[in-house]
Amino acid sequence: MKTIVKNGKIVSPSETYEADLCIENGVISCIGTNLEQKFASDEVQVIDAAGKYVLPGGVDVHTHMDLDVGFSRAVDDFYDGTVAAACGGTTSIVDHMAFGPAGCNLHHQLNEYHRLADDKAVIDYGFHGTVQHVNDEILDELESMVEDGVPSVKVYLTYGFKINDDGVLEVLKRMKELNGITAFHCENHDVVEHLKKVYSESGKTAPIYHAKSRPNIAEAEAVRRVLYLAKLAGDAPVYIVHLSCKESLEAVEEARKAGQKNIFVETCTQYLTMTEEKYKDEDGLKYIMSPPLRTDADREALWKGLENGEIQIVATDHCPFNYGIEKQMGKDDFTKCPNGAPGVEERMILLFSEGVMKNRISLNRFVEVACTNPAKVYGLYPKKGILEPGADADLIILDPEREQTLTHANMHGAVDYTAYEGVPVKGYIDLVMQRGNVIAKENRFTGARGAGEFIHRKTRDLKDESSCLR
Ligand code: URP
Ligand code: ZN
Ligand code: ZN
Repeated sequence: MKTIVKNGKIVSPSETYEADLCIENGVISCIGTNLEQKFASDEVQVIDAAGKYVLPGGVDVHTHMDLDVGFSRAVDDFYDGTVAAACGGTTSIVDHMAFGPAGCNLHHQLNEYHRLADDKAVIDYGFHGTVQHVNDEILDELESMVEDGVPSVKVYLTYGFKINDDGVLEVLKRMKELNGITAFHCENHDVVEHLKKVYSESGKTAPIYHAKSRPNIAEAEAVRRVLYLAKLAGDAPVYIVHLSCKESLEAVEEARKAGQKNIFVETCTQYLTMTEEKYKDEDGLKYIMSPPLRTDADREALWKGLENGEIQIVATDHCPFNYGIEKQMGKDDFTKCPNGAPGVEERMILLFSEGVMKNRISLNRFVEVACTNPAKVYGLYPKKGILEPGADADLIILDPEREQTLTHANMHGAVDYTAYEGVPVKGYIDLVMQRGNVIAKENRFTGARGAGEFIHRKTRDLKDESSCLR
């Protein structure tokens, strides 16, 4: 049986054109005109997308489903979180694995994550490794992680299992040899810990002091350091997660201007759409995440960076804790509040509305930063992130004329709030398809528990990809 999506405007990173798209066995078999007539003698299901955009399914390469942070656990497991993703138009995620028990190897967490996700995920998924200590065994094991479909690892420069500069260098070098990529959470640990102590000890424990204890400079210093270390490692591929402020972006721009290659940069929806003013609201705990929300000047710099290519990816860092329960641990002291916020369901439509409909980025750039680039950088492309013959039929039909107001009542995750309550958006996701199956329609989940497949990601032939990736 064939499925034909007809009369829609198909969007790629480089063009928007009216055409029909034919799907067979979960894969796009051809794109052309009058496909319904052409295949009239076959058994065909037709979906009319007239007046709508047909986009690749979203690829969110920074989520934390079921994240165990020791004293708390993110409330979306791989079922709830991927149902939310599906309803929001995201058809693939790459999830950052949590820290495991001290001293555990990389496969300990990989096995654990397969256990957490394999029978639950409703969309396709991969994992990033998490390096929580560095020694010869871990450096050797990186190779078998790559063989097992995990060609990326994350290194934290803060939190309990932060890695020091010598370890950072070793991981960068090894991942370069393996054609993999190393992602970094960049914040200067000592600065943050010092400021947290200063504010706490002087009774400044309200949510706004979360932002004040993690200033722009603490992030930018760590970004600069990592970029220098990547340069020392021979322009090793480096990926900055959740870049949130203008000083960090300046560090990236300077490194690239100086000729450094293989730098990839992600920001997240929340840093483009909200500011630290949120911490002054009565429900400020909802927005406690690291890095924190910044200022309007930072927001503007991020939009500009997204438009001009300095930032190549928008992800979410989806990491939800209930406001009514877990977040309340921070009600008398921001340092006790679990860090993280939901966002996987809101990303695609918010970025479309705030970016495309407000003329900050083009429709094609939207597809590039939300679908194609994340798929390219993390080895999912060209199966994911693009609508082309041979690609998986992961797609969204989006109505650009229909308006809505985001509200928790219309969301699908397990968490008890959305950070975007009451935000008006222009655009509506009518239908979401994964490998040819309709998994969400008119904001109703129509997929199946466990139908998501593990994406055995591949390494990329790097050459000089950062210059062809805008
Ligand atoms: O606050 C955040 N971002 N929590 C999730 C873990 C991380 O730092 O990415
Ligand atoms: Zn992080
Ligand atoms: Zn994260």
